[in-house]
Amino acid sequence: MITHLQSVEIHASDPAELLRFYEDVWGLSRVAESGDRIQLRGRGPEHHVLTLAAGEDHRLGGIGLAAGSTSDVAELTERLRAEPVEILAASDTRVEFLDPEGRRIEVSCGLPVHAEPSPNAYGPDRLSHIVLNSVDLAASKDFYTRVLGFKISDTYENDQMVFLRCNALHHCIVLAPGEWTSLNHVAFEVRDTDEVMKALGRMRKAGYDTVWGPGRHGPGGNVFCYFVDPVGNVIEYTAELLEVDDDWVPSEWPRTQENADVWGTSGGITPEVVRAMSNPPRESAR
Ligand SMILES: [Fe+2]
Repeated sequence: MITHLQSVEIHASDPAELLRFYEDVWGLSRVAESGDRIQLRGRGPEHHVLTLAAGEDHRLGGIGLAAGSTSDVAELTERLRAEPVEILAASDTRVEFLDPEGRRIEVSCGLPVHAEPSPNAYGPDRLSHIVLNSVDLAASKDFYTRVLGFKISDTYENDQMVFLRCNALHHCIVLAPGEWTSLNHVAFEVRDTDEVMKALGRMRKAGYDTVWGPGRHGPGGNVFCYFVDPVGNVIEYTAELLEVDDDWVPSEWPRTQENADVWGTSGGITPEVVRAMSNPPRESAR
């Protein structure tokens, strides 16, 4: 039904200023602009992977998911109508709604894709995953699995993180408990570990050191480097995420530094990392 994570929208008080970072430093390319919304693509075929829209810094504007067909969109729309869910728009090719914590989700099919890779010599190929801090994690877990059809790949003990997949890739949406509903981080996929390390080198030269990484996660096995963008969003370069099949049995991982970073190279989950990923509302951030 849902085939993959396509795009994410983040709000910024000055999208044009943030655009400079995502184009010149992070490695995405602007493909469309209308009003105060700017869409950027990666090197892969997806039309866009990131939308910057005018609004309050740090706010998640929405999540774009792809459906396999119009009949999948229709079936999902029917399911959503049977739930206490606010549907914002629905057509043959897309349905837009709010999840249990008010996050705007758009599921669509048939969006145009690029025939050619972007000419960028470096940068992300596509989105990898998005991690959502959730006040009522159990409600979101129920919604994403029972209604949207995601499968649980793994968890950290006591649902400190729930890794969800909609295809062979180990996770594309991850739920984390939060004191408030917020964006924990967005991960962008590069080709391999070499590209993660080259990206780290470029970021350091540009004046952005990691907030966490490099390292390799236990759950999902992906290589990671986390940074903070100029308005406070945590963003990640990642590669080599595990692929699983239908016989995969979820594990409950102890929440240890060793499982978060099996190489032991990342510097550990420091209070700074926790604070950045908890993404407090702006009033509390001061
Ligand atoms: Fe991540």
